[in-house]
Amino acid sequence: MASHLLSVADLGADGLHELLDLTDSMIEVAERRIPKVPVLRGKTVVSLFYEDSTRTRLSFETAAKRLSADTMNFSVSTSSVKKGESLRDTVITIEAMGVDAIVVRHGSAGVPWQIADWVDASVINAGDGWHEHPTQALLDCYTIREKLGSLQDRHIAIVGDIKHSRVARSDVLAFTLLGAHVTLVAPPTLLPPSLEGWPVAVSHDLDSVLKTVDVVYLLRMQKERQTEALLPSLREYTALYGLTRERARLLGDDTLVMHPGPMNRGVEIAAEVADLPRSVITRQVANGVAVRSAVLFKLLGSEPTS
Ligand code: NCD
Repeated sequence: MASHLLSVADLGADGLHELLDLTDSMIEVAERRIPKVPVLRGKTVVSLFYEDSTRTRLSFETAAKRLSADTMNFSVSTSSVKKGESLRDTVITIEAMGVDAIVVRHGSAGVPWQIADWVDASVINAGDGWHEHPTQALLDCYTIREKLGSLQDRHIAIVGDIKHSRVARSDVLAFTLLGAHVTLVAPPTLLPPSLEGWPVAVSHDLDSVLKTVDVVYLLRMQKERQTEALLPSLREYTALYGLTRERARLLGDDTLVMHPGPMNRGVEIAAEVADLPRSVITRQVANGVAVRSAVLFKLLGSEPTS
């Protein structure tokens, strides 16, 4: 039976540590003069993206190529989905061409699990609705570990549109599994209706939280998922919850600023704050490729990288 990466919960702390350690060797490959190893030669990885993406899609493609896998790209807007083909028929058609892994992003929660039921290939969840985005959580953990040594007992604030964020859900799980303390900072309308079972603290006062954190993690306003007016105005949001230049001065010397991208500069983060040395946003992107290579290798590879 093929193995999959569907959620952070499936990995547990041991699975997270194993993939982060494997990422170290993928970083080493990335730094070589020719950043390519033949470990997935003959394997085919297809990206099946029903939602827009810049980073995640290119990152998986680059990650697969670094391991010498073949890649296929499925674009909903130019496919037979436009002619009414169902998700199941689309997936079965793609699998019939002989693929080893399907990287899927979809607007509905649970779709990667459904696909995993239909196919023999490995399925990787690249974001399902508001639900989960496990490789983002892995690359975030990796980046924090790289910069701060470990997540154990670190204090991380996740700020913004938590309600609609799959990144927040996967990050809360992963950060806390690795021993960090998480505080969610958002207006009540941008928090999930119930936080029962979430191992987090909640605050509506960003200024006081900023003074105590090792990492401040900003989220984009997910306007495409909001069906009602949840904020009086974006200007008011920025005034209360944006990481403005003035607020960034409250941060400790070693505090990191993170964001999964895409950023809306001037809304959740001031343009100049995103470019400060403490901002590791582009490092997150670079680490994302190595993390995804580690995931592909774990699911599809068997021999050591050499
Ligand atoms: C995020 C996503 O699509 O879930 N982006 C990403 O994968 N880096 C966050 C977002 O869209 O705001």
